[in-house]
Amino acid sequence: MHFFTYKKGELFVEDVPVKELVKEFGTPLYIYSYGTLIRHIRAYEEAFCEISHIICYAVKANSNLAILSLFAELGIGADIVSGGELFRALKAGIKPYRIVFAGVGKTDEEIEYAIKNNILMFNVESELELYKINEIAKKLKKQARVALRINPDIDPKTHKYIATGLKTSKFGIPISKAVEYYKVAKSLENIKIIGIHKHIGSQITETDAYVEALRKLLELYEKLVQADVDIEYIDIGGGLGITYKDEEPPHPKDLANALIPLIKNQKGKLIVEPGRSIVGNAGILVTKVLYTKQTDVKNFIIVDAGMNDLMRPTLYGSYHEILPVTQGKRQKIVADIVGPICESGDFLAKDREIEKLSPGEYLAVMSAGAYGFSMSSNYNSRPRAAEVLVKGEHYALIRKRETYKDLIKNEIIPEDLL
Ligand code: LLP
Repeated sequence: MHFFTYKKGELFVEDVPVKELVKEFGTPLYIYSYGTLIRHIRAYEEAFCEISHIICYAVKANSNLAILSLFAELGIGADIVSGGELFRALKAGIKPYRIVFAGVGKTDEEIEYAIKNNILMFNVESELELYKINEIAKKLKKQARVALRINPDIDPKTHKYIATGLKTSKFGIPISKAVEYYKVAKSLENIKIIGIHKHIGSQITETDAYVEALRKLLELYEKLVQADVDIEYIDIGGGLGITYKDEEPPHPKDLANALIPLIKNQKGKLIVEPGRSIVGNAGILVTKVLYTKQTDVKNFIIVDAGMNDLMRPTLYGSYHEILPVTQGKRQKIVADIVGPICESGDFLAKDREIEKLSPGEYLAVMSAGAYGFSMSSNYNSRPRAAEVLVKGEHYALIRKRETYKDLIKNEIIPEDLL
C-alpha cells in the first residue's frame, strides 16, 4: 500500500504533483512518501505487538539521514553492516541499545567503534570474528554482547545474489557447528552471549522458508538452553518481499501469524530486520525522457537516469513498473528504457510495453525506495540524484543533488609526482 496515485491524469505523491517537484528539483529525482513509510512501520509494530520485540530497520535499504531520523522518532532500531551505517544511525538518533551489527567482514576499527558506542549486539559470522571482538573488547575493558548468525541452509526461493542462508553462501556459521562455536564464545572473557540470529535472504514472497528457518533456530535454541547458554534475543533477520509486478508477498501480519505460535512460549525477545518492505514501495525515481530512437529491431526510450542511479535492473534483472508522470492517450509501443551510461547493461526496463513518450516528458520508476539511492554511484562521473520527502501537501529536500565539484572534492593531483 502506498500514496502514489493519479489525480486527473497527473501522478501525485501524497498531495503533491510529481511535476511540481521535478520543476523545482530537476531529474533524476528520488521522491519518498512519509505516509507510506509510517504505514509500513506501523504494520510491523501492530503485527508483532502481542510479543516482546524490536524492529531493527535494515539501514542498507535506504540510509538517508532524514528517513533514519523519522524512524528514530518512532523508536525503531537499526540493523547495520558497517561503521558508516553506525555513524548514520547514531547521527539520526537511533538508540545504541536498539542497534545490531551484521556482516562477514567487520574491521577492527568498526568493531571498536561499535563497542565504544554500546550497541545491543554483534551478529557474529565466523569463529575468527569472535576472537577478534573478544580481543578488542578486552583492550577497551568492556564486554561485547553477541549473537551468532546461524546459516540454516534454507532456500528462500529468491534471486541467487540475494539468497544468504544457503550452505554455499558466505554468510553465518553453519548450523552444524553452532553449539561448538557458542561454547567457544562462552569461554571468552570479554564476550557476553545474548542472542541467536539468522537472515536467509531478501525479496522473499512466502512464509514457508521463514517458518522452516525459525524451527531450525529453535531446535538449536533448545540445545543451547541445555548447554547452559543464555539467549535473550532471537533475531530472525529481514527479507519480506514487496510487489514490484505481480508478486503477492505476505503482509507483516501474515509473517507474524506464522511465526508467533512458534516463538511465544520462548523467553527470548524477537528482533526483526526489515528493509525493503519498509522503504521499497515508499519511493519512486523520476526521470526525464531525453530522446527516443528506433532501430531495425528495437525502440529505445533514452532517459536521464542510468544504472548508476538505479542498479537493480542491471544487477539482478529486476522488474520495476514504469509509469508516465502525466497520463495521455499515447500510442503503445514495446521499447527498452535505457540510461545515458556507456554500457549495454544500462537499462531500467527491457522490451517493456509503454506509452510512446516524447522528449521532455517524465517517467516514474516505481518501488525504487529500497536499494535504489543506497546502491547508486558516480559511474561515468554522474553526480548522484537529489532526494525529496513528501508529507501531505508539504515536502522537503532531504539530499541535495551532487555537483561537478562534489565529484572531485576528495581527489588530489600530486604535483611532485606529475
Ligand atoms: N538483515 C540482514 C542481515 C541483511 O543482510 C539484509 C539485507 C536485511 C536484514 C534486510 O533485508 P530486506 O528486508 O531488505 O530484504 N540489493 C538487493 C538486496 C540485498 C539485501 C541484502 N541484505 C536488492 O536490491 O534486491
